[in-house]
Amino acid sequence: MSILKIIEYGNPILRNKSKEVSKVSKKIKTLVTDLLETMYSANGVGLAAPQVGENLRIFVVDVSDPKGPIDPLVFINPKIIKKSGAINSYEGCLSFPKAYTNVRRYKNIMIKALDMNGRPFVKEAKDGELLARAIQHEFDHLDGKLFIDHCRNRFEANEVLAKYNLPSIEEDKLIDEDFLEVEIVQFEKEHPDLVEKQRKEQEEC
Ligand code: NI
Repeated sequence: MSILKIIEYGNPILRNKSKEVSKVSKKIKTLVTDLLETMYSANGVGLAAPQVGENLRIFVVDVSDPKGPIDPLVFINPKIIKKSGAINSYEGCLSFPKAYTNVRRYKNIMIKALDMNGRPFVKEAKDGELLARAIQHEFDHLDGKLFIDHCRNRFEANEVLAKYNLPSIEEDKLIDEDFLEVEIVQFEKEHPDLVEKQRKEQEEC
């Protein structure tokens, strides 16, 4: 097991589309173990293979309470099979040290993937829970997409990136999600208390 170096925003590897894993070999299992170890050592809730320089369709997530026992989830060749609803997510990323911004995410998702032993499984995450948001964040990494591509306010995002000496957002990568924005704004009007609660949650993936 080893702790791998996490590559940072600006490195072109993060923008590549990753390849499917053809076989869950011993080498792949070692990479998964290293991803988990690297994620835990960086206090992240998720980490994708491209973030350690491997353009393979693998990511790991653990959204359990850091004070309790670990609960690692491994996703190999994942496919999002259902998505609905919309929610604001205040996100960071281990490839963007300390930089957080508000992004748009789906509220509910269903994903299928292979586990560490090559067995297929389906996982559902609802109501904008951290797991739902972390899975979408990590899944994006496999397609060369980054959380800032979903930013709700590009000026705010650029300010944060500049503060931490990271390159500014790539305008051509921004994803058109006006339909999600409409739903998020409506939700925030109806639930101002939840908006405040969510602003206090900060997790890096
Ligand atoms: Ni990330």
